[in-house]
Amino acid sequence: MRKLLIYIVIGFGIMATVNAQTEANVEKKIDELLKEMTLEEKVAMCHAQSKFSSPGVPRLGIPEIWMSDGPHGVRGEINWDNWGYAGWTNDSITAFPALTCLAASFNPELSYEYGVAIGEEARYRRKDILLGPGVNIYRTPLNGRNFEYMGEDPHLASIMVVPYIKGVQRNGVAACVKHYVLNNQEHWRGHISVNVSDRALHEIYLPAFKTAVQDGHTWAIMGAYNQFRGQHTTHHKLLNKILKEDWAFDGVVVSDWGSAHDTKEAALYGLDIEMGSWTNGLTSSIDLAYDNYYLATPFLEMLKAGEISEEVLDDKVSRILRLMLRTNMSGSRPTGRMNNVEHSQVARKVAADGIVLLKNANDFFPISPDTELTIAVIGENANRSMTVGGGSSELKAKYEVSPLEGIQNRYAKANIIYSLGYASGPSAYGREIASELDADSLVNAALEVASKADIVLFIGGLNKNHYQDCEGADRKHYKLPFGQNELIDKLLKVNSQAGVVLVSGNAVEMPWIDKVDGLIQSWYNGSEAGNALADILSGDVTPSGKLPYSYPVKLKDNGAHYFGELSYPGDTIDQYYKEDILVGYRWHDTKNIKPQFAFGFGLSYTDFAISDFQLDKKTYTQGEVIKVTSGIENTGDVNGAEVVQVYVGKPTSKVKRALKELKGFQKVYLNAGESKTVEIEIPVEKLMFYDESLADWSLEKGTYMLYICNSSDNIISKQKINIK
Ligand code: BGC
Repeated sequence: MRKLLIYIVIGFGIMATVNAQTEANVEKKIDELLKEMTLEEKVAMCHAQSKFSSPGVPRLGIPEIWMSDGPHGVRGEINWDNWGYAGWTNDSITAFPALTCLAASFNPELSYEYGVAIGEEARYRRKDILLGPGVNIYRTPLNGRNFEYMGEDPHLASIMVVPYIKGVQRNGVAACVKHYVLNNQEHWRGHISVNVSDRALHEIYLPAFKTAVQDGHTWAIMGAYNQFRGQHTTHHKLLNKILKEDWAFDGVVVSDWGSAHDTKEAALYGLDIEMGSWTNGLTSSIDLAYDNYYLATPFLEMLKAGEISEEVLDDKVSRILRLMLRTNMSGSRPTGRMNNVEHSQVARKVAADGIVLLKNANDFFPISPDTELTIAVIGENANRSMTVGGGSSELKAKYEVSPLEGIQNRYAKANIIYSLGYASGPSAYGREIASELDADSLVNAALEVASKADIVLFIGGLNKNHYQDCEGADRKHYKLPFGQNELIDKLLKVNSQAGVVLVSGNAVEMPWIDKVDGLIQSWYNGSEAGNALADILSGDVTPSGKLPYSYPVKLKDNGAHYFGELSYPGDTIDQYYKEDILVGYRWHDTKNIKPQFAFGFGLSYTDFAISDFQLDKKTYTQGEVIKVTSGIENTGDVNGAEVVQVYVGKPTSKVKRALKELKGFQKVYLNAGESKTVEIEIPVEKLMFYDESLADWSLEKGTYMLYICNSSDNIISKQKINIK
């Protein structure tokens, strides 16, 4: 045993030396290349040459960099110089579940599998940078892009983002974590100036980016469109000071497409590669006009005139070369693969692990797969492609199993009858196209189908159209669109045996919640969406997802909306995050505003008993780790998983505090009747708050409360600790 330990220790020693040597070689290589390059060649590397690539230096063997969206699959090939699809026949991929679903799994191991799989597909498609994952915090249910992000809690997003990055980068493909930072709405995203306290910035909006850099070692970060306190975030002191200096980020800052606005600022405030939506880098398209970008000819001229020093340029090019020596110049990266069975399995596993059971009166779910009953499936989302639309995250999936197909496949003996019920119209980026179908006829047809069935499954929600879950605009209201609320009411009148499945990336108002027996929150689940849903409906998989964001009863119950228009969406120029640190459940908890469904909530087909909450001691000091243990038993009849969540609060404090904040969690799989002991470690430094008077983190002494929960609104047990 001892011998083994010595080998392991020596092994790690050797590995560390090899890594240090590799790093030294990389830095040496960068210096050598820089010396060979002309000013023009260096500047060329700092901006796009096409929609998704930047140039190399052929005479020195430096290749181009190829990028692709992200974050749920590798996007179809786009034309060189316009936004049309290139029409390749070899770019169909596996569509993975949206990141809301990954976050809802509360399962970091699955995040790693997801990262590895999508990274392999990106590598096979010869991409050097994958434009994802997204970790902007869920501040309002109206944000059109929430489905691309990891929910409202900085701890959850921080934990879930790291394995994704590691999985992707294992393939010699850089992750590009986006959008840095405060891009929490699509409405006016190109110019709105966010005003938020330093404390909320550091405690809520930055943590996931910080762990992405410090623990995930991401090789790229994408700037955002919006401004922060009057300056565009793509060239901002947030980049030089916080990202590059304080966090020691040694990778590349890529602009969002067209988010750069000024040459000098872009040069001096931390942007490394400028990409564009329009070919002149500005607001319109001229053929092949990439030389007009801020970091192109205008940058070269300022360098030549001595207005910007060459050191600034060399820093950018060093970072770009470093990324390349880790990716397309590394010489030892794997080959990648795509559309293989294992990737489909990862997609299905993540989807099934993330689907959330929200209501289950009279054990409505699961519905036995052997049933011979007539099941009426009603609703557009049962049969609509959700990989198409949504903006830049749109995918060209090799295949997509719809919920209806998944149900038909699994319920071979049942009589499945389908009716559309409502129609939303086709998907078009940046505009809304109403359906040509007659709404009344659709409702009547659905009611007739429902009245003939034993059970009704309504599968609705939002979709990837403009003003829904889609880039470029926010939702206009909190309601379910296309008359779905009215339809659900009518369906219940003809058949009360009804369950609802919502497919969305956002919370919605649920006026019918008390009247339905069953409610499942599903997500945009990609290629395996239907199979994963059938896994849950049938009980082949016991639901274990937990909500990654709160569901307010009404919009005003959400902290951002409580404060009116200046808080969201702003006055066209500025907005003020008046809820400050009280985002999501922090707001509901602290203000005692009961949500419809709380962050961290999700039911199961089995029961769990969480007991025997223990701490290794009662008093801790800075630098120590709080060791929480708890027993958990699956007391029901089927196998399942529960997420044990540890929240911490400070009842009396010199600063404003949320009642409690998530600081640790663990998902535990237990066979029926099985018990385990869960161990969760919380470094004491995680209890620090951002002290604006010090411009630094600070640990307040005194009494803290630790809460063991299985959702943010269900405290199972609590204990006091003291911080000395
Ligand atoms: C989006 C980015 C995306 C980029 C390239 C932008 O509009 O905000 O998330 O990566 O386009 O498609």
